[in-house]
Amino acid sequence: MANEKVVLSLIQPTGTPTLGNYLGALRNWAKMAEDYNCIFGCADLHSITIRTEAQDLKKRTRDLYALLIALGLNPEKNIIFVQSQVPQHSELAWILNCYTMFGEASRMTQFKEKSAKHSDNVNVGLFTYPTLMAADILLYQADYVPVGEDQRQHLELTRDIAERFNGIYGEVLKVPEPLIEQSGAKIMSLAEPTKKMSKSDPNNKAFILLDDTPDVIVKKIKSAVTDSDARVYFSDDKPGVANLMNIYSVCTGKSYDDIETEFENKGYGDFKLAVAESVIEELKPLQVEYKRILAEKAYLEECATKGAQKAQYVAQKTLHKVKKKVGFWN
Ligand code: TYM
Repeated sequence: MANEKVVLSLIQPTGTPTLGNYLGALRNWAKMAEDYNCIFGCADLHSITIRTEAQDLKKRTRDLYALLIALGLNPEKNIIFVQSQVPQHSELAWILNCYTMFGEASRMTQFKEKSAKHSDNVNVGLFTYPTLMAADILLYQADYVPVGEDQRQHLELTRDIAERFNGIYGEVLKVPEPLIEQSGAKIMSLAEPTKKMSKSDPNNKAFILLDDTPDVIVKKIKSAVTDSDARVYFSDDKPGVANLMNIYSVCTGKSYDDIETEFENKGYGDFKLAVAESVIEELKPLQVEYKRILAEKAYLEECATKGAQKAQYVAQKTLHKVKKKVGFWN
């Protein structure tokens, strides 16, 4: 292994991940898997903060686990696990709740957004969601946490909690660094390009799912909201075009200058088709592998069991230290 630094990140099994999840996070995880000590997981404890059918949750968790393997993450070398199978997460989260201020948690914009969106179910879990996330990260003494822009505030809170805990008890918890790539960190909705692309959007033309077929991808990108200017160039005043340029740039490696030159005398029709093709090409290997691995049920089960054991082993070491420092009789 080229680098012993620990890289950790999780994703919620709240439905098939979107192109936003992929370009903002998953794709970067796969790139780091060979060179770092990587720990990746399905955050199923987090996903019950929104009401979920039991059967759906189980299926989505299994499917998401398969997708992580399909990404090319190596379950022998990396730790790939399901959060609820590692009880240390809930235990450390409780302890960290007692080192997190009510005011800090109240300031989280995701809490405000989700409370507004699910006003009939503003549960306490939604409020303490970031302390569970801090536990996920701090249990493994992670150095780097690759996430999209929307998770930056939660990462800052995690750092504050770790520093507060260390300030009281000495250097117990590693203070992690967020890894937020400039490009891909915020993929916007295709229907409302000033809003983040999200799988929970009621308008299914707003997002591309990782298992969308080529036809669907073409249709969704063709219907993406742009503007009446009909010229392809990057500007904050053209959020729809800027978003498509961002997607095209991440998928092809072309710079914005290259893209502007490529479409200088062409309209949005040609541009959108090229964007759709680049997305189709980008997702093709993942989709093929995902289909194959989904059928390997026994293998996936075995990987998850081993992943949970390995995760528990690492997590327990930190939890033990924390409990000793706090003064529990253990
Ligand atoms: P989740 O499941 O909402 O999203 C998973 C990852 O995808 C990124 N992402 C995006 N990136 C770019 N553009 C978008 N439109 C977009 N939408 C989502 C997210 O930033 C994230 O990196 N709370 C986390 C899961 C979590 C976690 C953790 C992450 C639980 N514990 C510990 C890191 C470390 C979440 O809900 O991500």
